[in-house]
Amino acid sequence: MAFPLTRMRRLRATAGLRGLVRETDLRAGQLVLPLFVAEAGVVGEDGHADRSGGRAGHQPIATMPGVDRLSLASVVEEAREAAALGIAGVLLFGVPADKDDEGSGAWDDDGVVQLATRAIKQAVPDLLVLTDVCLCEYTSHGHCGVLIDARGDGPDARSVDNDATLELLARTAVSHAHAGADIVAPSDMMDGRVGAIREALDTDGFAEVPILAYSAKFASAFYGPFRAAADSAPAFGDRRGYQMDPANGREAVREALLDVDEGADMVMVKPALAYGDLIRAVKRATRLPVAAYNVSGEYAMVKAAAAAGYIDERAIVLEILTSLRRAGADTIITYHAKDAARWLH
Ligand code: PBG
Repeated sequence: MAFPLTRMRRLRATAGLRGLVRETDLRAGQLVLPLFVAEAGVVGEDGHADRSGGRAGHQPIATMPGVDRLSLASVVEEAREAAALGIAGVLLFGVPADKDDEGSGAWDDDGVVQLATRAIKQAVPDLLVLTDVCLCEYTSHGHCGVLIDARGDGPDARSVDNDATLELLARTAVSHAHAGADIVAPSDMMDGRVGAIREALDTDGFAEVPILAYSAKFASAFYGPFRAAADSAPAFGDRRGYQMDPANGREAVREALLDVDEGADMVMVKPALAYGDLIRAVKRATRLPVAAYNVSGEYAMVKAAAAAGYIDERAIVLEILTSLRRAGADTIITYHAKDAARWLH
């Protein structure tokens, strides 16, 4: 049945008709807000001026307008606001005061993410706390795992030791679970980490804590602004030895299926905007809930264009988030979460 019997415009004529046949919904309850929580000393505590002279307990991140590094007290306030807006949860990243070769701050039971998790769960118990499980914010060299010893011909000869890193990641995840994390989310891209974390959680009595695996995490230039925020840029080399090649789609599906075999409860595709095909492919292949991470570079581009007056921020953000849902994302992790939740009200 072609034109003139078929007229596609009939169902587009009014808001009522468009709403009736809309295929994709976007709700605040599908959104997760990433937060950067800084150890005391990194950001001025409330009541004192912070280093940048701005809001107490907030340190603006130059590369991500509208996103701040937060003190412990401020992170609880942000969490409260997120919950009041109907956002599903927050994803915590730590900005520690000290770093070392192993990244031991990651599994410190009094580490910054652990303290923030406890404080948020106490203040806003219904808000989900997701924790990023990785070492890069805690290692002095900025890589996501421990290094194989230098072989004497400069830092490029070193690489990240997969198997030695697994135990440290597992320790970190257990420590987050102890603090009350609702979901742990490993982002390091070591092989076998989901299995190692599952086993450690089960052994320690956390069989009910789900794992959201950053399964298809690409070595992406879209993470640039985040690395400034978390101070986690690698001191030498890059992450292409463990994160995925942006050219590879079949491999992304393989990664996701391996994580399913190792016990992942949810899988992630990251970045999101340039990877809609893989959100769809991973969803099809795994049939697990899929999260899309609308990363820092995607956020920064929108903010910069909006600030320049080139685009309508609200319309663009809602269109982007809707497109990720349409691609197959059940959950969207986004720095726009608070704005989007307000606009969706
Ligand atoms: C840590 C981690 C990164 C991001 C999330 N977890 C940075 C990286 O891998 O370099 C990026 C998040 C973003 O860009 O918003 N491994």
